[in-house]
Amino acid sequence: MECSWVIFLAFIVMSFLLIMPHLRKGTSGHRRLPPGPPGWPVFGNTFDLGPMPHRSLAQLRHKYGDVLWLKLGAINTMVILSSKAAAEFFKNHDLSFVERTVTETSRVYGYHKGSVALANYGSYWRVMRRLVTVEMLVNKRIRETAFLRRKCVDDMLLWIEEEAGKANCGVHVARFVFLMTFNLLGNLMLSKDLFGPDSEEGSEFFVAMEGIMEWGGHANMSDIFPWLRRLDPQGLRRKMERDMGKAMKIASKFVKERKNSTDQQYVERERKKDFLDVLLEYEGNGNDEPAKISDDELNIFILEIFLAGSETTSSTIEWALTELIRSPKAMNKAKTELTQVVGPNGKVEESDIEKLPYLQAVIKETLRLHPPIPFLVPRRAKNDTNFMGYFIPKNTQVFVNAWAIGRDPDVWADEPMCFKPERFMVGPNSSTDYKGQHFEFIPFGAGRRMCAGVPLAHRVLHLVLGSLLHHFDWELDASVDVETMDMKDRLGITVRKFEPLLAIPTKCI
Ligand code: HEM
Repeated sequence: MECSWVIFLAFIVMSFLLIMPHLRKGTSGHRRLPPGPPGWPVFGNTFDLGPMPHRSLAQLRHKYGDVLWLKLGAINTMVILSSKAAAEFFKNHDLSFVERTVTETSRVYGYHKGSVALANYGSYWRVMRRLVTVEMLVNKRIRETAFLRRKCVDDMLLWIEEEAGKANCGVHVARFVFLMTFNLLGNLMLSKDLFGPDSEEGSEFFVAMEGIMEWGGHANMSDIFPWLRRLDPQGLRRKMERDMGKAMKIASKFVKERKNSTDQQYVERERKKDFLDVLLEYEGNGNDEPAKISDDELNIFILEIFLAGSETTSSTIEWALTELIRSPKAMNKAKTELTQVVGPNGKVEESDIEKLPYLQAVIKETLRLHPPIPFLVPRRAKNDTNFMGYFIPKNTQVFVNAWAIGRDPDVWADEPMCFKPERFMVGPNSSTDYKGQHFEFIPFGAGRRMCAGVPLAHRVLHLVLGSLLHHFDWELDASVDVETMDMKDRLGITVRKFEPLLAIPTKCI
């Protein structure tokens, strides 16, 4: 008797497992959800993500259209796949989706509580965002600090030159760009160079940040099945605790040093207030704003600016240089333009950027094909919402696939998969830019939660790439062939080149 019960139960479970994937899940009650692939019991569409979710989900547009519905374990997910749907999202529904998704790894050490990028859309976010945009990244302040960036870029050129002298193979360019961005942000926020290329602490910070990027970007079973949180089945929380712990320790040391600095140093700083002074002196308005920024929030905030600015910048420069090395005609054009504008022996300055339209087109084309944060920072629905005729329940997470949108053939008609900077100079896309108004090109996102660092990133990307191209001729290591070189990407919090670019620089000025 018992045996037949077991067989009966097994039969029911098997039937359920077999039937479930074929069930359409296009409705929630009587309300219509966006279309999407059928999901498995319990796992839902988790397996549809694949190792490169931005690529796998882009493929699904052919079958399901511009807006896709997925069930990732327990989590409702909407994916925006076309520029038309992105325009509708940012123009008419920005406020409905203004919240962020908080993942399990971002809760480590309460990171999500101090972060601007993950903060709830409320008074803490408003104050911190205002401080970044008004005190640190307002155009006037950025102009005043141009000399700091020039110095950091000069240091980087020197490190690369020295490394080229030592190395038998190519130079790992992205590493030096990363270190340079660190020092640059360190100068802007804390008025100090943080690391040299041989600094042990620098390497430790670099490795810890790489870890944070990697563990934070992994698909985590604990997010998909919240009841697994305590078990941490992939060990991601543990690894995040280790690396976040190291990075926080270093970041908090900078803050402590400042707090304990001598009177003389303080007098020097009084002349030129930096961002850390602003944060330390902050006092709320006595109404809805937080009264003070706590030490934990301060450390997390400093760490976040490093995280937001360094990997994104170094990944973009690495891809730009890779694409140019693969496309000698484009490389030639960019170098010729630089020679004409800057002079054969001159230095690239930020004031030259306006006069370098081809360099600008190269940066745009790189960000179109390789947006460093391909799903932007995932949004979350504040309430039940109607979007393009579909019912979207409260708390649905939203991936805006900037990678797919940059390849949308409806707007990028001329060979959308190819690297062609010229498309930003003549033709229908010539006036398209990344300032958040053109929804076919959103490497920095758009709307209220758009990247707060665009004015700085714009200057740094052009200054760094322009300087690398004007200062050196670049070729690949002899062991790598331009035709067959690896162009795969690797997803963490940012997408970067799977095989780091190792390129050989020859000094030319
Ligand atoms: C190539 C360089 C960069 C790229 C591609 C980039 C991209 C992005 C993207 C896609 C977002 C999410 C936008 C959205 O959800 O709509 C973002 C958010 C953010 N970025 Fe950047 N970023 C870069 C550099 C920087 C720099 C240099 C800083 C600061 C110094 C910065 C600070 C921030 C902050 C604070 C946020 C959170 C905004 C919020 O949630 O209100 N970023 N960035």
